[in-house]
Amino acid sequence: MKINGQSYRTIWFENNVVKIIDQTKLPHQFIIKDLKTVKDSINAIKTMEVRGAPLIGATAAYGLVLSINEKNDLSFLKQSSEELINSRPTAINLKWAVDRMMKKLSGVNNKDIFNIALKEAQAIAEEDVEFCKNIGLNGLKIIEEIANKKKDTVNILTHCNAGWLATIDWGTATSPIYHAHQKGVKVHVWVDETRPRNQGANLTSYELNEEGIPNTIIADNTGGILMQRGEVDMCIVGTDRTLSNGDVCNKIGTYLKALAAKDNNVPFYVALPSSTIDWNIKDHKDIPIEERNSEELSYVEGLDKNNKLQKILIYPHKSKVMNLAFDVTPAKYVTALITEKGVCEASEQGLEGLFK
Ligand code: MRU
Repeated sequence: MKINGQSYRTIWFENNVVKIIDQTKLPHQFIIKDLKTVKDSINAIKTMEVRGAPLIGATAAYGLVLSINEKNDLSFLKQSSEELINSRPTAINLKWAVDRMMKKLSGVNNKDIFNIALKEAQAIAEEDVEFCKNIGLNGLKIIEEIANKKKDTVNILTHCNAGWLATIDWGTATSPIYHAHQKGVKVHVWVDETRPRNQGANLTSYELNEEGIPNTIIADNTGGILMQRGEVDMCIVGTDRTLSNGDVCNKIGTYLKALAAKDNNVPFYVALPSSTIDWNIKDHKDIPIEERNSEELSYVEGLDKNNKLQKILIYPHKSKVMNLAFDVTPAKYVTALITEKGVCEASEQGLEGLFK
């Protein structure tokens, strides 16, 4: 998608270096950063210079390419793969991408391994673009149905950033919105700010602005009253891990939005590529929920009146702070899952019907 009228992807490989858009600097600075080593990739994932389930999966895949480039040695590669998987715990895409790479590289000789690794990492990225595009085409039909009934602008609420910045291109939750906009369907997006890191305000609103899509940032607690007032026609969110029974683990606060949606008969959709499905864990209590540094809550960063980036403390410095990054929305609150293969019920039957 576009930034300043120019098309970008979130990650690409050029001259033996992985290029990323540093998302910790958006929306105030647009910086393309070089990742030269596997340690750089691990650090980019941990510090959230790259974030969003599909993008951290692709970054891990390219991280293994950098690892081979640094030292063409099996034990270094194995160590790199473990460190990449452990760099963030909740999104299943990390393990999915690393496992796929390691399977592809198993038994490959030292002479060919770099080229095979690069080709596979690129295939993972290309496949994600295709999946996200198809998620968009499948979700477009739902938006069009609402637009045809309503004969007016469709108001869509989204949480966090499941936009193109969270993937390689298109996004998951935003892909149906981009397709609708490109087809001339009138849409307006309510963007949850998404405390504490404000991925909604800083990234989703930013990317929608760049594509010319009307949107309004709201504080995280505002969605409920908007639904009661009939000002939300549908919710679409992304996911970091979807269980085979249709339970959805996504950015903290998603669950509360789903409850409000249920109470107000607002359809609640979850958009995902199949790389986000965890076929193994059966009980959502077994999903590792990331707990991040408390400073992400107690400090905020932004531009001061002199246009200088500043980080300031907003809480009492003695207060204890807890920063859980994800929650789980049980399948019963999910109207349907929008995937690259079609739209299905959030259930074992629904997912197996499409993918097994
Ligand atoms: O902590 P983040 O910013 O990586 O969390 C991102 C989300 O929760 C997204 O909704 C999810 O990864 C889906 S991305 C298409």
